[in-house]
Amino acid sequence: MAFPQAFLDELIVRNPIEDVVGQYVQLKRSGANYFGLCPFHGEKTPSFSVAPNKQMYYCFGCHKGGSVINFIMEIESLSYPDAVRFLAQRVNLEVPDDRENQSQYREQERLWDLCRDAARYFHEMLKSDAGQTARAYLLRRGLDWNTVARFGIGFAPEGWRNLADAMEQKGYTRAELLAADLAVSKEKNGRASFYDKFRNRVIFPLIDIRGNVVGFAGRTLDPDGKPKYINSGETLIFRKRKFLYAMNLVKKSRQGRIILCEGPLDVIACHQYGFDCAVASQGTALTEEQVNIISKYVDQVVLTYDSDQAGQNATQRAISMFEKAGVKVKILRLYDAKDPDEFLHRFGADPFAVLLQGSENQADYRLLTLQSQYDLTVDEQRVEFSQKAAELISTFSNSVEREIYADRAAKSAGISKEAMLVEVGKAYKKRQYREKRQKEKRDLSPATAIQPKSREIRYSNIRSARAEESVLAQSVIEPALLDRIGDLTGAEFSSPLLGRAFDALCSRHRAGLTVSIAVLEGFTQEEMAHLSGICQGVDRVAGETAFQDCIDIIREEHRKAGQTNSETDLLALQEQLKSKKGYRGQ
Ligand code: UTP
Ligand code: MN
Repeated sequence: MAFPQAFLDELIVRNPIEDVVGQYVQLKRSGANYFGLCPFHGEKTPSFSVAPNKQMYYCFGCHKGGSVINFIMEIESLSYPDAVRFLAQRVNLEVPDDRENQSQYREQERLWDLCRDAARYFHEMLKSDAGQTARAYLLRRGLDWNTVARFGIGFAPEGWRNLADAMEQKGYTRAELLAADLAVSKEKNGRASFYDKFRNRVIFPLIDIRGNVVGFAGRTLDPDGKPKYINSGETLIFRKRKFLYAMNLVKKSRQGRIILCEGPLDVIACHQYGFDCAVASQGTALTEEQVNIISKYVDQVVLTYDSDQAGQNATQRAISMFEKAGVKVKILRLYDAKDPDEFLHRFGADPFAVLLQGSENQADYRLLTLQSQYDLTVDEQRVEFSQKAAELISTFSNSVEREIYADRAAKSAGISKEAMLVEVGKAYKKRQYREKRQKEKRDLSPATAIQPKSREIRYSNIRSARAEESVLAQSVIEPALLDRIGDLTGAEFSSPLLGRAFDALCSRHRAGLTVSIAVLEGFTQEEMAHLSGICQGVDRVAGETAFQDCIDIIREEHRKAGQTNSETDLLALQEQLKSKKGYRGQ
């Protein structure tokens, strides 16, 4: 999706990055830049920087960065075109008429409207005579009317075309009903049929983070009805992987943590009982996208998955996914109930709050999991468990914590606490030594120090890459330097990413446009973050000579690479020929 370059330039000028970021992050000026606490990872000392002159942001802690557009994409969870529209709207800038994109956008808006009207229709039906059994069902399940209204719960009555007829009357087409996955169209024995997808079901509207109804989940009223739930499939406006039920409400709750449940009814029960930070991944296993969204709002998540094997596997998987995103995980184990919905209705809010408070922390959980892998009646296994437990405990940073868990593990293994603590001490020293060695190795080898965090953009030639980074950073500060590059092009760069960025800057310079990374198009979030990192580290012009030196290095390394390539090509060719019969090499 491409917007006209002129429009993008205007957009970026009219949305100064420090203003936009300043609406989300408290910024303090320091020299030419601003600093604040990074909104993308939990931190206590500011490592998040905004450079007004470069129109870029960069976090030295989590390495996120980019232009004002990237910032909005990240913080509002928007796609690129939507972030552009968001910023355009912010300053009353008209988005230029791009047919294809406009029509897709219009279609999206139509589906939003349709889903909202459908949700209203379902809710009206729940209130009507036709909704009597459904109302009784919800009541039986402990929901009060406030909750029903708050979540916009509705009812799809018995019958084949109730919704379709009502929506067609409002001017929506059959194609739109199909596109929103509200209707089904089938052909059987040469006869076409068209009917409502949701029939005789309680309806939970699925509302996205911005408050748009994007889909539905329908539950059967029949205790043995199959399937229990019918969910909207993927549509233009409903992306399952990114969806979290009730995230629109939770985003405002500011409790510092999120309770992650399995289904809408668990979430609804939590909210009804005052735990208004519950969300659910709707009818899918937890995805990376969902984890990322959650990590933007909180740094702690409480998992309440079922206690059966499937739930336990899901828990393990979720723990490591959240850990990677820097989110702390707590496990809420429910006793005598299969899910939060059942628990809350049976025992009420207080016991739930107690469990939440003391929810087993990760340490406990991991120790238990480790333990379950060993048969502790067998001596060898006890030894092995003790060692593994010691290794695990040695990673806890707090000494009291180490002491407590060493005691627990010792009891399970049937050894003395002292013996366990000795093992923990050994494991601790070993690890510290290993980490120190690794750090020394890193510090000694600058090559790894400047390697990009992401594998996709790894450097193949560090010497050249350093020069390339410098050329980019310098050109952004002093575009006139680009008059001195001779016929150097990005093709001679060892890093394809840096080469691409260089070419883009050059063509902007030639066209008399501002030379800035922030306005470049066609780079991924990750690539933009990496480029911002490069530019954010440099504030002064190094001078023409230094610039020229860098260019010489790039050319020299490129020449060398060319030679080795043709040498290896030649060798490969000879090998190939040799393996063919009858070849006589000289
Ligand atoms: P559960 O079977 O645990 O249902 O499935 P539940 O949430 O406790 O629902 P109630 O309390 O019986 O009404 C967990 C989640 O898996 C999805 C739903 O999102 C459900 O909430 N699911 C389950 C489906 O998508 N389809 C199904 O047929 C069943
Ligand atoms: Mn349930």
